[in-house]
Parts: sequence; C-alpha cells; structure tokens
Amino acid sequence: MHGIVHAEFREYVVQTLGSEGWARSVDRAGLAGRTYSPNASYPDEELLALVLAVSHISGEPLDAVLTSFGRAIVPALLTTYAAFVDQRWDAADVLEHVERVVHRTIRLQDPEATPPYLTAERRAADEVLIRYTSPRRLCAFGKGLVHGLASHYGRSATIHDEACMHRGDDACLLRVVLEPRVN
Ligand code: HEM
Repeated sequence: MHGIVHAEFREYVVQTLGSEGWARSVDRAGLAGRTYSPNASYPDEELLALVLAVSHISGEPLDAVLTSFGRAIVPALLTTYAAFVDQRWDAADVLEHVERVVHRTIRLQDPEATPPYLTAERRAADEVLIRYTSPRRLCAFGKGLVHGLASHYGRSATIHDEACMHRGDDACLLRVVLEPRVN
C-alpha cells in the first residue's frame, strides 16, 4: 500500500500513544527499527501487524483503531491530493466523485497504489450510497475516511451499514447521511 498510509499511521500512533507507544507497537509487530516514507510503498501486512499491535496496547478493538485512524488521515490525504479535489465540492460531492476522480487518478498516476474500487450513488443532496469491495476488507478504515471528510467540510456523517463483507456479503454498502455539525 501507498506509504502515505504507513507514514500517517505512525503520526497517528505518536499523537495518541506517544513516541514510546510507537516504539512498543513496532516491537510488538516484529518491525523494530522500521521507518516509513510517504514516497514509497510498503506491504499491507506491515500496516495490519501495526494496527493489531496498537489495538493490543491501547485495548481498543481493531475496527475502532482503523476507524479512528481513517478520520485522522484525512487532512494529510486532502493536502497530498488537493489537485484532485474540486474546490467547489462539498462533502457529498467528494464522496460521489471519489472513485471516478480521486481513486482512479491515483491508480493511473502511481502503478504501485491500488486504492479500492468504490461505486457511489447520490441518493439525495445529503445522502450517498457507497459500495466498497477490496480483498483488504478495510471498511472500518473507509468509514473513518467518510467521518473525517464530513468533518473537514463542517458536517457530521451517520453511516448505515446496509451490508458488510465481514458478515458474508459480497460488498460493504455504506449509506452515508450528512448533517450539519452540531458543535
Ligand atoms: C479525497 C478523498 C480520498 C483520497 C485522497 C483517498 C486516497 C486513498 C489512497 C492514496 C489510498 C491508498 C491506496 C494504496 O496505496 O493502495 C486509499 C485507500 C483506501 N481508500 Fe481512499 N481516498 C479518499 C476517499 C475515500 C473514501 C470516501 C473511502 C470510503 C469508503 C475510501 C476508502 C479507502 C479504503 C478502504 C482504502 C484502503 C485500501 C483498500 O481497502 O483496498 N477512500 N485511498
């Protein structure tokens, strides 16, 4: 996976558990001394081993770590890929266009990046149905990205899990309803 994900996971762990927490996490994942650059690619297995280690150390369930990391990585993704995100878009527009414009362009630009294929159906001004499939089955991370994007645009997102690969469905269906942020 793209090194921005690994490098930002380190940032996230340092923010939440401190540098010592990061050192413990890499040790536990069997990756002591490993460094990550956003300009390289690294094995998915390393990210998953680190997420598992953080879940063990923090006592947070694995999915909760992935979702909270998904939220946290959004500012870095939006900065790095600013050129792909139309300034006139709001949160629902970003979700609607993320596959056709954002993930597709990343795939074309960087042969080592393999973002998941999403489909997005705009159901209403503030509602988007996202269909996610990927052998990585990281829907918990995707949900965090949705929350982080909503928050970036001053909205909050309610995500209704209409189907999930972890429950044996072919794909995850996330029905996202955007509301104004309360505070
Ligand atoms: C502007 C918004 C977004 C940007 C710039 C972005 C960019 C990226 C990048 C760079 C990766 C790493 C790809 C790789 O190296 O293989 C990725 C992965 C991923 N993206 Fe997006 N993304 C965005 C929005 C979304 C949204 C709204 C979802 C919602 C479901 C999503 C779901 C995922 C998931 C789940 C992965 C992990 C890889 C996988 O499951 O196969 N992304 N994205």
